[in-house]
Order: sequence, then structure tokens, then C-alpha cells
Amino acid sequence: MSSPISLLIRNARIILPNGEWIMGNVQTRDRQIVEVAPEISQITPTTEIDAQGLTLLPGVIDPQVHFREPGLEHKEDLFTASCACAKGGVTSFLEMPNTRPLTTTQQTLDDKLQRASHKCLVNYGFFIGATTENLPDLLSAKPTPGIKIFMGSMHGQLLVDQDAALEAIFAKGKRLIAVHAEDQARINQRRQEFAGIHDPAIHSQIQDNQAAMLATQLALKLSQKYQRRLHILHMSTAQEADLLRQHKPSWVTAEVTPQHLLLNTDAYEKIGTLAQMNPPLRSPHDNEVLWQALRDGVIDFIATDHAPHTLAEKAQEYPNSPSGMPGVETSLPLMLTAAIQSKCTIAQVAHWMSKAVAVAYGIPNKGAIAPGYDADLVLVDLDTYRPVRREELLTKCRWSPFEGWNLTGWPVTTIVGGQIVYHNGQVNTEVRGQALTFLQ
Ligand code: DOR
Repeated sequence: MSSPISLLIRNARIILPNGEWIMGNVQTRDRQIVEVAPEISQITPTTEIDAQGLTLLPGVIDPQVHFREPGLEHKEDLFTASCACAKGGVTSFLEMPNTRPLTTTQQTLDDKLQRASHKCLVNYGFFIGATTENLPDLLSAKPTPGIKIFMGSMHGQLLVDQDAALEAIFAKGKRLIAVHAEDQARINQRRQEFAGIHDPAIHSQIQDNQAAMLATQLALKLSQKYQRRLHILHMSTAQEADLLRQHKPSWVTAEVTPQHLLLNTDAYEKIGTLAQMNPPLRSPHDNEVLWQALRDGVIDFIATDHAPHTLAEKAQEYPNSPSGMPGVETSLPLMLTAAIQSKCTIAQVAHWMSKAVAVAYGIPNKGAIAPGYDADLVLVDLDTYRPVRREELLTKCRWSPFEGWNLTGWPVTTIVGGQIVYHNGQVNTEVRGQALTFLQ
């Protein structure tokens, strides 16, 4: 595989920006799409792909991942994570600040950008993390998709759980604030109530729906008071979805993970601590309400919250086992399989996993298959089913909560900036993504 100047994808089923489909061809030059048409005749492509029988979608933009570099590379690093992205059809990601050191200054942000420019096969952006002391950095750091606040479920400097500190951040500046909304005081109280229980299922009762609801209510209140752009990360409960359905200001967005749509508390019995994450898995009722909220536009898009931990770490007894599960390799086939099962349409999946994210974060030229857009694309096979297999995973942690699930819509070819980064099981490790920009 080389780095083509021009690429021609032939005979694909292509989704257009208006949600309609055509059978046809896409031509790219350098990093951009130059033509989308049923027939393209004037061409001198460097590389041709025959996409007969395959479906072409905009590359996935995953707006919440934890890729562990710097400092926690035994779990994952920017190279292994971006290989996993390439395999999963994820062509851009937004990464979270809970690395070591924390991403809370321009210097630590620059360090991540520098590392990514050397190691990342797909496009990248990095959140700046809020502490109680870095307001000047939160106002000035760039480029960044926004400020990440852990209102709960965190310890150390990244935990901002006091009303006054939260208010100070919401009051100053304009850039997007993304919240992990769980109420730390309630979590602390319930940890004491349920102390000594080692069944991981208790995790969903300790960090219960009420803990999520309290924090989301507070974030919404502050956002309304200051008319501040707010994004609610990994929304997990029926109550939060209902709250947003009643009143969602135009400057508020929300996301949901595939695991909060497709897994619930039954999973603890089957996979134990591998099902442990924050916010925790909920009930089948929550699954259904979240699906409906997504279909109705109350929830705007999908993120994986890819949060790898080693199997040895996960094998510790609850509550010593860390929270989090990987996701970038399985999110697109999971959602496309759900579409084939009539939970939604393929056009909705493409919207929720690309265009809606680009719009919400102001990422220019991404999320659609049209001339002038960046050539970040994924060809998927919707005719074949294959199970999630541990031995095929590229994430360094090498496990998935969805192991054994029989899925369709697996990526066959992933293209980043007009370059083939993944094809038929092979990753092209020569390809490098670019730093994302944000118009906010
Ligand atoms: O389960 C989680 N794990 N949720 C988070 O928000 C953080 C993440 C991690 O970094 O491990």
C-alpha cells in the first residue's frame, strides 16, 4: 500500500449528505474528495478500489476516548489506539485529559499534539482538563475541542465537584464545556452504604441513576445561567434523557455510548468487572429510553468512551478493579448491526457517528461524502457477519465487552486524508493523521 495522490473508489453504495443513497464512484485528490457521481470518466487515479457490494460512509469521528499516552502506556498508546481506530473505521478522535501528566496546560496539550503527529494513524484532537486552579489555561489553550470537567467519578486534581468551582468555570469564557456528570457527594455516601460488597453489580447501585441526574441537572442549570455551550458526555439514564426532552437549550448537546444502548446490568453476571464503567451500565428500560432519545434527536451523537485497562487490572476484586472498557474497534459494526436489526437507519448511524459530531464541535470539512470534504471514509460490508474475537483486536488491552457478539458492518477499508490506512485486515502504519481544528 502506498500513499496515493489520487484515489478512485468504484461501484460503492454511497450515502450522500442529505441521507439519500447512490451507486457510484468517489474520487479524491490529495486529502480531499473532489467528485462523487454515478459515473466518473476524467480520471487518472493512483489507486483504485473496487467497492462492489460495499457501503461507503463518512469516517467515524469518535468524540470521547481515553488513549492513555503519556503516562499509562501499559494500557494503550497513541499508536496502538490509532491502529484500533483504523480497523474500526474511526478516522478522527477527541481524547480526554486524564493521562499522566494531566492535560491541563498548553504545555501538556502541545506534548500530546507532538506525540500524535509522530504516532497517530488517524486525525486527533485533545480536550483540556479543568482543575480548580487552571482557569487561565482553560481560556487560552488551543487547539482543543473544549474543556472537560469531571464533576464526579474522578480523584485528584481533575475532580471539580464543588458548586463554586464549577460556577467559576461556567462563568468565564465561551468555549464548549463537556461534563462527566456524576455527583461525587452521592457516590461517596453510597460507597459507604455498600462498603464490603465485592459483586461488581453493586457498581450500578453505588453510582446510581440519581448520581447522574443530580450532576446533569447542575450542569444544565449553570449552562442556562451563563448561556454556556454545554456537552453532556456519555448520558446513561432515562431520567437525564427525559429531562433533556422536556427542555434542551439550543446550545446544549449530549452523547450516548454503544454500551449504554446495548449492554445493561445483566452483563455483570456474564463478564463481571469487564462490564464496570463510569457512568455504570443501567437497566434495559434505560437502554430503550436512550435509544428513543437518540432517534428523536434529544441525544445528538455517539461516543465510545474507549477506556482500556489491562485484563490483569480488570481481574482485581471489585472495587479495586478499574472502570472502563475499550470501544473504537467495535462501535461502528455494533451500531450498523443495530441498524440492520431495525433499531435505526444506516443514515442515522452515519449522522450520529460523523456529521453530528463535526457540527457540534465545529470541525470543518468532515462528516460528509461530498466534494470539498476531507477524504476520511470507511467502506463497510453489510452482507457478512463475523463475531468479535479477542485475538483480532488491535487495542493494547486485547479484550472487548462484546466478545462473541456476531456483527455485520465491519470495515473493509478505512481512508484517512485520501490514504488507505486499513484494508482487509492490514493496517498501513505509514499513514499519519492530522491535528483537528475547531471553529468555536
Ligand atoms: O469508565 C470510565 N473510565 N469512565 C471514565 O469517564 C474514565 C475512564 C477511564 O479513563 O478509565
